[in-house]
Amino acid sequence: MRYKSQSVAYWYFAVAMALFGLQLVFGLLSAAKYLGPDPLINVLPFDVTKVMHTNLLIVWVLTGFMGGTYWLVPEESRTELHSVKLAYVQLLLWSLMGIATIIGYFFRYGTGNKLLEQPLPSKLVIVIVMLMFLYNIGMTIRRAGRLTTTEGVLLGGLALAAILYVPALLHYQNYTVAIFYRWWTIHLWVEGVWEMIQGGLMAYLLIRLSGADREVMEKWLYIIVGLVFLAGILGTAHHYYWIGVPSYWLPIGGMFSALEPLALVGMAIYAYSAIRRSGLAHPNGLALHWTVGSAVFTMFGAGLLGVAHTLPSVNKWTHGTLITAMHGHAAFYGAYVMIVLAMISYALPAMCPERSEKGTALGYWAFWLQVGGMFGMTLAFATAGIGQVYLERIMGMGYLDAQLKIQIHFVMLTATASLFTIGVGLFIYDFFRYAPKFAVRTDAQPDLPLGVAANN
Ligand code: HEM
Ligand code: HEM
Ligand SMILES: [Fe+2]
Repeated sequence: MRYKSQSVAYWYFAVAMALFGLQLVFGLLSAAKYLGPDPLINVLPFDVTKVMHTNLLIVWVLTGFMGGTYWLVPEESRTELHSVKLAYVQLLLWSLMGIATIIGYFFRYGTGNKLLEQPLPSKLVIVIVMLMFLYNIGMTIRRAGRLTTTEGVLLGGLALAAILYVPALLHYQNYTVAIFYRWWTIHLWVEGVWEMIQGGLMAYLLIRLSGADREVMEKWLYIIVGLVFLAGILGTAHHYYWIGVPSYWLPIGGMFSALEPLALVGMAIYAYSAIRRSGLAHPNGLALHWTVGSAVFTMFGAGLLGVAHTLPSVNKWTHGTLITAMHGHAAFYGAYVMIVLAMISYALPAMCPERSEKGTALGYWAFWLQVGGMFGMTLAFATAGIGQVYLERIMGMGYLDAQLKIQIHFVMLTATASLFTIGVGLFIYDFFRYAPKFAVRTDAQPDLPLGVAANN
């Protein structure tokens, strides 16, 4: 750790870990309901557990992004954070909001707008927290007078994510209008500005881990972000096919969203070639697994499995089925879960001196059990989804009859999700098992490999 205030990141990561664990509890509960009679139907029905599952995901991933940013900005701008106190107040407010919102869902207090179910008071707290966060980071950079491209892309993504949350604050009477604007937040987040966040974190990690030349890495980062926007903005229309808007959105959505994988393939090539060209200059092989893993899994979950159902001719059958859940899991995991776990794996040894810099054996088990488990879950959702589409949408079988026929796939989902959960459990255990000690290392550029210090 080169700057004392980077220690703030640890507490953000710790909160993220706890909420990640809780997210899986509600995922397993949601899956269990597919398996047979539901003894909890009057207390915690499927719609409630699913909302808790997805909202916890969004909250903990954003917590991870904020923690990652608080770690990265002091290093990139070479200064302490503007206000450590503000960062802690922000974390407290954010955590209280998250917990209160989840408890509120238990009492059916929410808006019912998928993924944006947060009631208005929670949404206002989210806006306040985002403003505090951006102010703190902005002031830090202003004081330092140094903004790198990597940092700029990361912060651009975070600021745009906050701006794109604004449509979610408004209420629309007309259902078509409500859905139309919902995608300005959800789609432009995950297929637009969050990819800038992923790209920024990935560039930071690759520069540090591989020792690749910063100038080259940042040039490619611009190209990738350019490709994201080129396809991603009009690609929003792949959510407009069946919502009651004019039919010209069909070709626009199909054409532009089919181009979206370009940026994701670009990102995977970028990660691979950085390692191939520059080798591994840093001992932390575990962080490298998560970083390159994120690029490859994104290409699979978002790129391949996204494009698999993005054309109108396919989506008219698959829309809103378990095919969507298949893609949602693999894409979210690869792009956003894995990059947060990469940042944590990279930063943790500097904050917990007893940890091995290379990563622990347990850490590698956590990696492979998660990757294998999530791959299995994706296949379980895929086989269930294909069955559902044929039986329900093509053969015209009733929804519940079709669900009975595909129930076996949920046994596979539960089995693979259990492996995944063990992997997450190991990661969380590995995170907490060494106590943090926030000692600043005074030796020159301690986290940079020799020979690349001049570039960084
Ligand atoms: C990291 C990037 C991505 C993430 C995290 C992601 C995640 C998701 C999620 C969670 C949904 C469900 C949303 C909802 O119903 O509210 C969804 C839907 C969808 N995604 Fe993605 N996605 C990503 C990238 C892509 C890409 C690149 C494509 C196309 C090439 C794509 C195509 C689709 C389509 C067509 C749907 C609508 C499914 C339906 O009609 O039910 N996604 N995505
Ligand atoms: C123990 C592991 C997990 C289990 C058992 C699980 C199970 C489920 C189930 C059953 C649903 C409802 C699907 C439906 O609507 O029919 C769901 C939704 C969802 N889960 Fe998970 N999940 C797990 C982990 C995760 C993880 C790690 C992520 C993020 C990477 C995630 C992201 C999502 C998303 C985005 C949705 C909404 C999909 C949609 O648009 O309908 N889940 N999950
Ligand atoms: Fe989309």
